[in-house]
Amino acid sequence: MSFDTLIRKGTIVTATDTYAADLAIADGKISSIGRDLPPESARKVIDATGLFVMPGGIDVHTHLDMPFGGTTSADDFESGTRAAAWGGTTTLIDFAIQYHGQSLHQAFDTWMKKADGKATIDYAFHCIITELDDERARQMKQLVAQGVPSFKLFMAYPGVFMLDDASIFRAMSVAADSGAFICMHAENGGAIDVIVQRALAEGKRAPKYHALTRPTAAEAEATGRAIALAEMAGAPVYIVHLSCAEALERVREARERGLPVYAETCPQYLFLSIENFDVPGFEGAKYVFTPPLREKHHQDKLWKGLAQDQLQVVSTDHCPFCFKEQKELGKDDFTKIPNGGPGVEHRLSLVYSGGVHGHHFSPNRFVQLVSTAPAKLFGLYPRKGTIAVGSDADLVLFDPEAENVLSARTHHMRVDYSMFEGIRVKGVARTVLSRGDVILDKGNFLARPGRGQFLKRQTHAGI
Ligand code: URP
Ligand code: ZN
Ligand code: ZN
Repeated sequence: MSFDTLIRKGTIVTATDTYAADLAIADGKISSIGRDLPPESARKVIDATGLFVMPGGIDVHTHLDMPFGGTTSADDFESGTRAAAWGGTTTLIDFAIQYHGQSLHQAFDTWMKKADGKATIDYAFHCIITELDDERARQMKQLVAQGVPSFKLFMAYPGVFMLDDASIFRAMSVAADSGAFICMHAENGGAIDVIVQRALAEGKRAPKYHALTRPTAAEAEATGRAIALAEMAGAPVYIVHLSCAEALERVREARERGLPVYAETCPQYLFLSIENFDVPGFEGAKYVFTPPLREKHHQDKLWKGLAQDQLQVVSTDHCPFCFKEQKELGKDDFTKIPNGGPGVEHRLSLVYSGGVHGHHFSPNRFVQLVSTAPAKLFGLYPRKGTIAVGSDADLVLFDPEAENVLSARTHHMRVDYSMFEGIRVKGVARTVLSRGDVILDKGNFLARPGRGQFLKRQTHAGI
């Protein structure tokens, strides 16, 4: 018995179990788990005393190097994957966008090139569809076979990303036949646009009007409509970046009826609120993303939703734009502020801190939300998302008691502000391994750009 690496004396935490064991790694995979594995058989020994050994985080919603609103998101696949790894995330699923007139294959090829030679951790893609004719419907099936089995559709952003109900229903019908999984941006874009135009006509141009023109009813209506369309098509559906109690209620009702309906929320909706717009001048632009921040009372419903499996995943919707020069594009008009916020680095710390130390759920549920459920829903399990013999050795050695104060001064995202500036978290990634390579160790980042591999995914497995 010989190992490349032995992790000793840690506490293994999976979505179901917590136990003391050593873990051995050979050829990038977990090769043994057991008590008192022999250290002399390992080339490298890591002492995990006092630490949790968890599967690496999987963030299924990021936008790296993404053109939007006349600019491009500030993290590319090098800086974005590096920041993710600093926080204990070892796999990302980003979005390849099919722009009007393009094929789905062009979208995929463009994003493959963006990641190539840059990614420091493993990555995969969903494809955003902005037009759906017969040819693109065929291309959906081809992408499924190429390892891209999930597609994001928009019910918002008319004229840019939004699909009409007929196209959404067709895409869902293809999904029902092919095993593809539809991820839905659920906001009623048509109604929102009317409210936005009214606000502009009344001279309401400050950042907070981005939030005030996107009511919770617009999200709840679209969530209910997406669920109804999916039910008619006989397809599962995954609601992305769910932000409010009203939309959650639609998901809860559907799940109670036994429908394959899933949803994610993001740390910004759990930790921030509409009150974040009470800042001087244009500062509120730091919080302009869609869906917008809501009143504080929604947070508690979202935490409960995570605990009670009404929500299955926490992703980040990492879509960073610098305050200077990028957010400032909307200085005189909130509709010109690029939508999105930075968050890929701090998901694990924030969710552990608020969720486990905040007494909402157990460390096992935490692992389920940030790693195992994402892996199962998006066709990466059991290669990723668990600790088992034969799984990739994507691991995070996590100190559940260590504290950190989040700040742009210390973060690794390539953006000049933090949405979570000054928030104290308890629970910090100390050492991170990706396919057996130590890529982060006690404050040293060790991964070479380009070592991250593209992951062909299987079709969706229900959870
Ligand atoms: O404001 C956001 N969320 N920007 C990224 C695009 C999206 O809708 O996810
Ligand atoms: Zn979206
Ligand atoms: Zn997004």
